[in-house]
Amino acid sequence: MKRLLILASLLLFLWACNAYSDLPAPTADRTWKTKVLEPSEQIGGGDPEAGFSYLKNGDYIGSGIPVDLVPKRLQGYEDKVLGREGTNSRMPYIATAFEAENGVEVVNGNCFTCHAGELNGKVVVGLGDSFSDFQRNMKPLGSGLDVIMRLKYGKKSPEWDAYKDFKYYFKKSAPHIRTNQPGANPAAHLAEACVAYRDPQTLTAKDNALFDLPNYVVASDVPPLWNVGKKNALYYTAIGRGDFSKLLFQASVLGIADSTAARKAVTNFKDVVAWLESLEPPAYPADVNMPLADQGKPLFEKHCSGCHGTYGAEETYPNKVISLSIIKTDPYYAAYAFDAPIVGWYNKSWFATSQPTSWFEPELGYVAPPLDGIWATAPYLHNGSVPTLEDLLNSPARPLYWQRSGRSNDYDYTKVGWAYERKGNARGKWTFDATLPGSYNVGHTFGDKLLDTERKAVIEYLKTL
Ligand code: HEC
Ligand code: HEC
Repeated sequence: MKRLLILASLLLFLWACNAYSDLPAPTADRTWKTKVLEPSEQIGGGDPEAGFSYLKNGDYIGSGIPVDLVPKRLQGYEDKVLGREGTNSRMPYIATAFEAENGVEVVNGNCFTCHAGELNGKVVVGLGDSFSDFQRNMKPLGSGLDVIMRLKYGKKSPEWDAYKDFKYYFKKSAPHIRTNQPGANPAAHLAEACVAYRDPQTLTAKDNALFDLPNYVVASDVPPLWNVGKKNALYYTAIGRGDFSKLLFQASVLGIADSTAARKAVTNFKDVVAWLESLEPPAYPADVNMPLADQGKPLFEKHCSGCHGTYGAEETYPNKVISLSIIKTDPYYAAYAFDAPIVGWYNKSWFATSQPTSWFEPELGYVAPPLDGIWATAPYLHNGSVPTLEDLLNSPARPLYWQRSGRSNDYDYTKVGWAYERKGNARGKWTFDATLPGSYNVGHTFGDKLLDTERKAVIEYLKTL
């Protein structure tokens, strides 16, 4: 028995090593420190209201499961978050019912599956969901759905037709999106796995992958959507350049049939971009000590504004991406994006070669994001490895293992972020393990030099942004 256990742990250890053996060796490019991201041409002219309506009700995922398959207990739900009408008034906010191309009403996830988050028991639209759990193996779910679909509708039915594109890409991507901690989001790998099985020009399905998919998953936090208006490039690594409406449309690679469907849907994304640009962060809900915040402002402007911009009457945002050699936060996500074969695919794809054009240009570094509504967006850094602002600005104090309750009303308004318990290991639900590659809580030490009193003042000021 004991030997078996030793063998099992050895195998597990080898598996764990193997799972990360292909992680690109992170190298910090020392030839540059900071790059300014220049604005690129945008199609513009969108209507924000139409954009929000499309995000809530639209057919941008293309295909899905028939509405009848949604369990009755979920259908009895009343959508108080998005305030939708018709079938969608009875859907959870993370799902949308829409008409597939052949007229069958289907359901699938939507942008708010990842881009609406709970805070103090209330769902905030545009806040990244830090409570997702992609640790489960999704493969059985895919196979289970197939069985049900075959038995209930058969392969010759219109329902099957409206389901098959989503089925194909869900199955192809399921093995590539399993994360090693809760809260971490594998969206980049999801997109990569879907496009690997699509022709770059026609976007139609391919039987074999066009490039090798990595056998590891470097997941990330989900950024808030209200920063889009200030940004000249999208995503943590500034990989998303050019027209935003094209870049955002990528979420559709999970279920659209081809580029004809894409061409139709992408015009709506002009409106989506307008909606994103109109989004405001939620105001800090508790009292702010204004005299203290006023002391924090000049400290912030001295130590932080060079990268994060200024706020208040004179808003500026410098749009900088900071080299890994300076920022020194976990390098794995940037290294993955830098070497990812999706870059080559994208840059010769319909997204890059048809008007308006967009392209991928990753950097070995991370964007210094705008800090609007930063109080609400814990955990911090691109990998969500730091639970509070206090810990972010005092790097020696950051916990290696930290456990939160998993309840959204456990927000700590002193340290600003998730209330947590420091642990000695990674056991227990909702425990973040910052010892894993991709999840390191290192770097961004710019707050360390502040005196405790100064740090408190800066945090108080951050509450007002
Ligand atoms: C499976 C979860 C998931 C879904 C679904 C999803 N996103 Fe995201 N989104 C993410 C993650 C994770 C990131 C961060 C990736 C990065 O920056 O490298 C992101 C990044 C973004 C950004 C960039 C923000 C910034 O500050 O750079 C925008 C904008 C965005 N998503 C919009 C959308 C829209 C619109 C949809 C629906 C069409 C959508 N997303 C669907 C997970 C998701
Ligand atoms: C040299 C540029 C630079 C300076 C100076 C700087 N930051 Fe940052 N900051 C960054 C970058 C880059 C990131 C993103 C790093 C990552 O995600 O790995 C970041 C991330 C953050 C985040 C987390 C954002 C999020 O959404 O998780 C906060 C909060 C923050 N900085 C606050 C500050 C404060 C306060 C100061 C001043 C004491 C400061 N920063 C100084 C570049 C800088």
